[in-house]
Amino acid sequence: MTELLPYPPRLAAIGTADAAFRPALPLAELPAGAMRRVTFGELDVLLAHTERGIVATDDRCPHMSAPLSIGTLDGCIVACPLHNGRFDLASGDPVQMPTTGGLWPDGTYEPVWTPAGKEVKDDVPGPKAEARKLTRVRRLRFYPVRLVGGMIEVAIPG
Ligand code: FES
Repeated sequence: MTELLPYPPRLAAIGTADAAFRPALPLAELPAGAMRRVTFGELDVLLAHTERGIVATDDRCPHMSAPLSIGTLDGCIVACPLHNGRFDLASGDPVQMPTTGGLWPDGTYEPVWTPAGKEVKDDVPGPKAEARKLTRVRRLRFYPVRLVGGMIEVAIPG
């Protein structure tokens, strides 16, 4: 049976709590290990069939918005095709630079990303810190997924 990969509730995309599910892709077109972009209006969504189940996020890298769907998937880790940043689709966390912190969906800004177990880096005040903040780099945001018959459906706001 195909599983769905749970994601941290704090990283749910804004508006998904009461969003309607919409057909996204036949399950047969997303075999294990595959990724696909599905577009709803101006929203590009990444569907990934990880080793722990299917998940949907924005199809934009948290670093400079490159499409993760044309990167590579190894287990639950997606690698961006542009600068090889890597992100864990189970936690939403970056596992390899380049990336700074970013905005959580609730608007909380995290200035500098520090890998788990490492000493927290300072965000040195100055033009670069201000530029990072105003760039509004976002953490990965997730969309609820369900399977209906042979169809993958995604909850899309609006
Ligand atoms: S755009 Fe993805 S790592 Fe830079």
